[in-house]
Amino acid sequence: MRSQLIRGIAVLAGLSLHYIKISLYNAGMEKLVTALKAAGEPTRLRILALLGQGELTVNELVQVLDQSQPRVSRHLKLLAEAGLIERCQEGTWVFCRLADRGPNAALLRVTLDMLPADDEALARDHKRLAQVRSARASSADAYFRANATEWNRIRSLYVPEAEVEACLLRALEGRELDDFLDIGTGTGRMLEIFAHRVGHGLGIDANQDMLAIARNMLARKGIANCQARQGDLYDLPVADNSQDAVLLHQVLHYVDDGEGAIAEAARVLRPGGVLLVADFAPHGEEFLRDEQAHRRLGFADQEVIGWGELAGLSKRSISHLDGGRLTVTIWELEKAGGLGRSRGAAARPEAAE
Ligand SMILES: C[S@@+](CC[C@H](N)C(=O)[O-])C[C@H]1O[C@@H](n2cnc3c(N)ncnc32)[C@H](O)[C@@H]1O
Repeated sequence: MRSQLIRGIAVLAGLSLHYIKISLYNAGMEKLVTALKAAGEPTRLRILALLGQGELTVNELVQVLDQSQPRVSRHLKLLAEAGLIERCQEGTWVFCRLADRGPNAALLRVTLDMLPADDEALARDHKRLAQVRSARASSADAYFRANATEWNRIRSLYVPEAEVEACLLRALEGRELDDFLDIGTGTGRMLEIFAHRVGHGLGIDANQDMLAIARNMLARKGIANCQARQGDLYDLPVADNSQDAVLLHQVLHYVDDGEGAIAEAARVLRPGGVLLVADFAPHGEEFLRDEQAHRRLGFADQEVIGWGELAGLSKRSISHLDGGRLTVTIWELEKAGGLGRSRGAAARPEAAE
């Protein structure tokens, strides 16, 4: 089946080439032929199938494909030159993702749709990818398990914490917050600072050790309107359109699939609800990967805005809080279709960029 697909792509590429030879020069046609030729090879098709599951580092692709790094890099170079993938260097890691715009995005959608569901090599790759991801998740989980009791201290090491918290509270000023969700709640600090503002607060986290500390804190401080529950941020145990505000505070840089995390957050927001994402602006502090299990070294404004747009959220404001070595960005994104559930005359903060 897969070889038929490759043959099909190769035939299409050949036909297109033939067309170019007999017709006037056409740049669009030449680009299409280059893209089809790049996709029409077994390993490169496997790479496209893997990237169809979300962005991956070169090293992760090497592990999954079980080929040498120079070999995988050659394939990636060809795919990038053909405009089928984008490569993005971040510190010592290179992230690869499928092109998500223009004619090549359409070509990729068709190609990925045509991949046979019963192909053994593809099934093996997906199994290996799941193992690579789960090994990464376990090491991040082990980090949080080992550092749960220290997390409140670690969190405040590199960021202007009081400023960030004041900015988050300001962003939701004047909003009716019956239901508030803190994704990746950790030790529950965000529940603590929002408790007085919300009808009901729910913190979700994958890590039981972090949750134990969060529950302890809620009980100790008598915060009865907030709960902490175990769950996965890609599959929240929360109904569609049920939350007035959702927060992802210092979580995105740990996850494999930022786009997926934001899409899931958007799913549970009510129309007119707000997603606040607080995370680092792009930085070069590689030690955070080695010592604190970070995957991404921060995010450009447009990357998070773009993920929001794909999930039906539009930008309301962006704030940058300079903490010296690291800058924290707060993205405020809103789900369309709200009736403006404001609770008074308080003005929302000015958009800062
Ligand atoms: C850096 S901590 C941030 C905690 C909290 N938001 C704060 O600011 O103190 C990131 C948290 O995300 C959680 N996390 C990571 N991946 C997750 C997943 N897939 N589902 C749920 N929680 C996850 C970790 O267990 C960890 O507690």
